Amino acid sequence: MERTFIALKPDTLQRGLVGDIINRFEKKGFQLLGLKLVQPPRELVEKHYEEHLGRPFYEGLVNYMTSGPIVASVWQGKNIISSSRSLLGATDPSKAAPGTIRGDLATQVGRNLVHASDSPVNAEREISLWFAAKEIQNWSRSL
Ligand code: CMP
Repeated sequence: MERTFIALKPDTLQRGLVGDIINRFEKKGFQLLGLKLVQPPRELVEKHYEEHLGRPFYEGLVNYMTSGPIVASVWQGKNIISSSRSLLGATDPSKAAPGTIRGDLATQVGRNLVHASDSPVNAEREISLWFAAKEIQNWSRSL
């Protein structure tokens, strides 16, 4: 079973969409393993987005991601890395399909509500950046 890191960005809280987005992940059948509200220090966001260092949008992205609390979460499920990115829709919400989170709820790439890891290596890297091992519950489904 695969794990991924999902961050609900500051605009999600600002717009009161936390419940809606978490609900979409739960209804899909993904399993929540870790959840917390974090005001991230700049260094954490810089490490998280280090692959984008030097891109024209990098400064704006770091400012956006440090502008308020983020809901950090860890989820588990079959093919969750590609499947959760399908739930999110295209990075640019103006190109995201209806029915996806960004397609339904966002309009601008600089305010695209949610981040999801894009590979197994990045998922484990991001989980360990944002979470201590003791903050993750490895429960199994029995109901
Ligand atoms: P995310 O999925 O978190 O991964 C990288 C982020 O960079 C992306 O979502 C957007 O928030 C941001 N991003 C990517 N391209 C652009 C862009 N052209 N302009 C502004 N922000 C961008």
